[in-house]
Amino acid sequence: MAETKMEQMQPGDIRCKIIEQFLQAPDRCLTGAALSQALGMTRAAIWKHIHVLEEIGFAFSAAPRVGYQLTSVPDLCLPPLVSATQAPDARFGRWVHWFSVVDSTNRVAMHEISEIPHGGIVTAVRQEGGRGRRGRPWASPDGGLWMSLVLKEPLPLTRAAELTLLTSVAVRRAIAAVTGVETSIKWPNDLMYNGRKLCGILAEIRADGENVQHAVVGIGLNANVDTTLLPDEIQAIATSLQTITGSPCSLRALMSAILTELEPLTSSLTENGAGFRGVAEEWREHSSTLGHIVTVQTPAGKLTGLADHADDQGVLYIKDESGKLHAIHSGDVLFA
Ligand code: BTN
Repeated sequence: MAETKMEQMQPGDIRCKIIEQFLQAPDRCLTGAALSQALGMTRAAIWKHIHVLEEIGFAFSAAPRVGYQLTSVPDLCLPPLVSATQAPDARFGRWVHWFSVVDSTNRVAMHEISEIPHGGIVTAVRQEGGRGRRGRPWASPDGGLWMSLVLKEPLPLTRAAELTLLTSVAVRRAIAAVTGVETSIKWPNDLMYNGRKLCGILAEIRADGENVQHAVVGIGLNANVDTTLLPDEIQAIATSLQTITGSPCSLRALMSAILTELEPLTSSLTENGAGFRGVAEEWREHSSTLGHIVTVQTPAGKLTGLADHADDQGVLYIKDESGKLHAIHSGDVLFA
């Protein structure tokens, strides 16, 4: 695996301020003196930060008389760049903690929860200890979209299971809008293409009695992942958007579209709000599970039968050989 110097950025950091100054300047041009005055730092100190920005993919050119011009912005999900993609009244994506490399964005989000506002994101270029469902590892090399969304609005515990179902619908829509790729949803919330997994979702929740105190919704999308970098057993069952379309897509555009889709959906998860019910038809329309003979691993063991239907809470009903219906609240579809 490539060696990466660990860099990180969060709102308020001097490097975020430098990026903001350039983005707001006419023609993205600034003199050293103007930057120094705006940021209250010496020019030498500023250029050290600019050098780090160059290392992570920004390009600047020296412009005669004007100073420096920002000529190229990398496709990274950095705080000022993500925030700029969101509508003025959006709360999602306004706060981003970005890492070049981290163990797990879900772990960081849970750990730093008190400092992260509702709608805040933790994201990384690469994860070295990515968490999957049921305690499994999640391979997260460069090129993927690895992000964790923090939710702090009141949410009844009874509705928490809908979070990941809503997320699968939002990510499905975002992928279609940004890349044109139509994915299917394997119950409960894996996004698939031609039978291979493209995206996994892992929600971690802290509850206080009847209510969810906060939730971290982790999304792992194999966007521009070179699938040959994945472990052999994963290569056999996974794919990436780049593999499907033959060209890389913008991670920032994907994150922005996901957040835009997800914000209204999650805010419908109130006591009487529509929640999953509001998108259940869309979820069913794109399901790759319903109508198929499947084997489901449930906490109680394996069950094989026809995936008959899913209700408005996302509960899957399996019809066994005798025609009896079994309600599956949580589990994994093993074979379909
Ligand atoms: C699954 O097993 O299908 C869920 C995978 C979830 C992976 C994402 S990547 C971003 C976030 N951080 C993690 O450590 N896991 C989730």
